Amino acid sequence: QGPDPRTATGAPTSASGLDVAQQGAFLTTAHGARLADTDHSLKVGSRGPTLLQDHHLREKISHFDHERIPERVVHARGAAAHGVFVGNGAGESICRAGFLRAGVETPVFVRFSTVLGSRGSADLARDTRGFATRFYTDEGNYDLVGNNIPVFFIQDGIKFPDVVHAAKPHPDREIPQAQSAHDTFWDFVSLHTEAQAHTLWNMSDRGLPRSLRTMEGFGVHTFRLINADGQTCLVKFHWKPKQGVHSVTWEEAQLTNGNDPDFHRRDLADTIESGHYPEWDLGVQVMPDTEDEMFAGIDLLDPTKFVPEELAPVQVLGTMTLNRNPVNYFAETEQVAFNPANLAPGIDVTNDPLLQARLFSYLDTQITRLGGPNWNQIPINRAHAPINDMLRDGQHQDAVHGGVAPYRPHSLDGGCPFTAGPGDHPFIDIPAPVAAALKVRENPLTFEDHFTQATMFYRSLSPVEQDHVVAAYTFELSKCYEQTVRERQLLALANIDADLCARVADGLGLPAPAPSVPPTETDTTAAVSQICGTWPVA
Ligand code: HEM
Repeated sequence: QGPDPRTATGAPTSASGLDVAQQGAFLTTAHGARLADTDHSLKVGSRGPTLLQDHHLREKISHFDHERIPERVVHARGAAAHGVFVGNGAGESICRAGFLRAGVETPVFVRFSTVLGSRGSADLARDTRGFATRFYTDEGNYDLVGNNIPVFFIQDGIKFPDVVHAAKPHPDREIPQAQSAHDTFWDFVSLHTEAQAHTLWNMSDRGLPRSLRTMEGFGVHTFRLINADGQTCLVKFHWKPKQGVHSVTWEEAQLTNGNDPDFHRRDLADTIESGHYPEWDLGVQVMPDTEDEMFAGIDLLDPTKFVPEELAPVQVLGTMTLNRNPVNYFAETEQVAFNPANLAPGIDVTNDPLLQARLFSYLDTQITRLGGPNWNQIPINRAHAPINDMLRDGQHQDAVHGGVAPYRPHSLDGGCPFTAGPGDHPFIDIPAPVAAALKVRENPLTFEDHFTQATMFYRSLSPVEQDHVVAAYTFELSKCYEQTVRERQLLALANIDADLCARVADGLGLPAPAPSVPPTETDTTAAVSQICGTWPVA
């Protein structure tokens, strides 16, 4: 633990001191008084009653009573590792972020997760996987908070609570953890057809990774990069595992969950401990920063769309190696607080309406999850760059801030002007024009196509992989209680691929609906209004 930049003296904060104390030869109270006995409470005679004045008993029990913190509202189950990222210099021409320069080594912390299960759920659930990477760069923490699937369920962040409510366990019975037997999940994705593409990826082998080491990662959204000359481009981030991409079959997943529900976290930790460090290349697909933010007919602001690699090949910018397991699950894996708003100078967000909502959500939830606004001071969340924010006080404030003038510029404490460092502006907020338009609650027309890419993905699969998709839909939908939900999902499948629909319908013993003209968003709204009354979903 290095000097803490937040304290006035640079002295280490209590966290590191306490780490040492727990290795010591003798026991103390939390206040440092030595203890001779931690196994017997203080009683009136050996048969009691126990005395309220036993401070050690009260401190020990009371601290234990408060050991649990809320699990993450999503992505509660995770496993993590430390490592290093080394840039290869290929990114220098498009991005000024220092960690992309050739040979620069940046410490990283990566947390993999399932989305829907609780902290104690099984690893091999059919689900999306989170792939969140923190780069502790010299210019501050940069968090690339991605998934193992390149598209997302919804186009606008305002629907995130809805899709999560639909996908989490049923409110009445608290079962199950993933899609199986899940009327609300299938109800949602068949009504909000923008979710069909992501759901298809879940039903494919991508929903059952063989190992966390054999997963691709995707930033999903389009980001804007700026280089040292002020030129911008639009990119999608990719992690390519050097271990290859591998999955298990549904039967293997079921057996593994029964035999070893911790299969993925055990595999990651054991592999790193044995010195077989997993590696990923970080790459980008580069698209021109045009006024309409479209590429090859794809709206780059629509997070339910990917850009085929045939149209924009992935260019490798560097390699990440995971080479160290966390020492303490709670301190590191549980308390790490990723945030897509933690950006490096040279990397900026776009107007993707899903990303815009995320920029609010993470910090907000972490104030509850980690008990106040000072979780940036928890060791795993501390930047490795010097910190000089003007934030003060609040719950769990560890720093002893000096001076009376927490604002800039000021004329007290010896005076201090506000000086921007070279390059501080405009690289952290890249200047991008915002079109003057009316305030509206609607999607652009370019978000309307919900099916073309799902079809493209399904038809790109091998026959065996397609068989797995058919089996997955058949199994999952067979667990739905509501016939109307099954039928509506079959209608969505008919719009993806007639053969897929026919095979799933056959498995369910239902007639296959004819493919309709792929509905536009306007059609979906009309259909939903018919089913659910006048509330527009789109
Ligand atoms: C975790 C919100 C979309 C990837 C979380 C958490 C929240 C959240 C509240 C828990 C954070 C914590 O307690 O520390 C949202 C919202 C979204 C959204 C509101 C859409 C509007 C996405 C998307 C991705 C993603 C599109 C992937 C590209 C993740 C990952 C984690 C996470 C990987 C786990 C981070 C960790 O390991 O600690 N999200 N999310 N989320 N989210 Fe999202």
